[in-house]
Amino acid sequence: VSLKTIPVTAGGGSYPVLVGPGASAELASVIPKAAKRAVVITQSKIGIEVESGLPQHVLTVPDGENSKTMANAEYLCRQFAELSLNRSDVVIAVGGGVVTDLAGFAASVFHRGTNYVNVATTLLAQVDASVGGKTGVNLPEGKNLVGSFWQPRAVICDTDLLRSLPPEEMRCGYGEVAKYAFIGAPGLESLPISEQVARCVELKAAVVAEDEHETSGRRAILNYGHTLAHALEAERLALTSSKLKHGEAVAIGLVFAARLAKSLGRIGDSRVSEHYRVVRSYHLGESIPVGANAARLVKFMAGDKKSMFSRSSTGLTFVLDGPNGVEVVDSVPEGDVISLLEEMISESS
Ligand SMILES: NC(=O)c1ccc[n+]([C@@H]2O[C@H](COP(=O)([O-])OP(=O)(O)OC[C@H]3O[C@@H](n4cnc5c(N)ncnc54)[C@H](O)[C@@H]3O)[C@@H](O)[C@H]2O)c1
Repeated sequence: VSLKTIPVTAGGGSYPVLVGPGASAELASVIPKAAKRAVVITQSKIGIEVESGLPQHVLTVPDGENSKTMANAEYLCRQFAELSLNRSDVVIAVGGGVVTDLAGFAASVFHRGTNYVNVATTLLAQVDASVGGKTGVNLPEGKNLVGSFWQPRAVICDTDLLRSLPPEEMRCGYGEVAKYAFIGAPGLESLPISEQVARCVELKAAVVAEDEHETSGRRAILNYGHTLAHALEAERLALTSSKLKHGEAVAIGLVFAARLAKSLGRIGDSRVSEHYRVVRSYHLGESIPVGANAARLVKFMAGDKKSMFSRSSTGLTFVLDGPNGVEVVDSVPEGDVISLLEEMISESS
């Protein structure tokens, strides 16, 4: 099976994303030539070993979102210093989005910018987090509040590495894949996994090349389905201690966004059905969890700094489908949002 190489034009240059089964065997070939040593950053439970072709040292960080901290970024940078890493050496992140965000951030600030390569080991990281140069850590005040735009030198999306991924993590990634199906990559669900990853990476690469630093608004289409998703995640945390998985929340957010677009006359019934069909094809749920409250969801959406959702004198801002495809839409009447949420909540109970 052949590998696909997808170029990403960003950061004043271009870097390759290698996609396909066995792609990690190519790691040594994408290491910057000037690098004399490598530091691999991973998590102990991932258990994936990589061969950089250089003297390499492995550092592990704890599992989970809580590991994306300034303290762990400092720990990594101090280890880099102790290992006398210099900026032409290379940091290699081997993991999901938590590892690629944290390692990428540490690399971006160490010596004011050190080379790094991502080996993405979750579906979510392969189709989204590892590509595009957004790195970051969380603060107690909010997710991803500290970060940088720092492009990797290469990304490896080896679909063989997904074999050990727990099914719920696969589903989480499919929530993002379903998103891509509506922002320019239709018909994904019938393709082999490596082809699905490649199409998503191609699309993300195109969006990033157009709007690397999220200034033109183009990159906002990557947040399709995410406005309600973030609110659902926050609502779930407020109600119980169990988390709603991000990809599951995105799937519900996609269906909600389609129905909102329909209620505004932007799309027809068949396009709404298409959203349901794609979400179901990935075995993702489509109902707002029981117990959710419409007014509280709106409050969370309005408080979500990262989302496009905001209040203006004329209404709310969302990323919605329409005759010109998915785009940022302002002036969505708050009443329409509330009544659709209430309708969906009543369908779930
Ligand atoms: N930078 C970006 O553009 C961007 C985009 C989307 C998401 N993100 C970030 O990505 C993070 C979520 O990433 P995620 O969903 O990959 O979660 P994650 O990194 O926590 O990985 C999920 C779990 O799978 C385990 N794991 C990883 N690879 C494995 C493998 N091959 N086999 C078995 N277990 C494996 C991990 O140890 C972890 O327990 C969030 O912090 C989010 O903010 C960043």
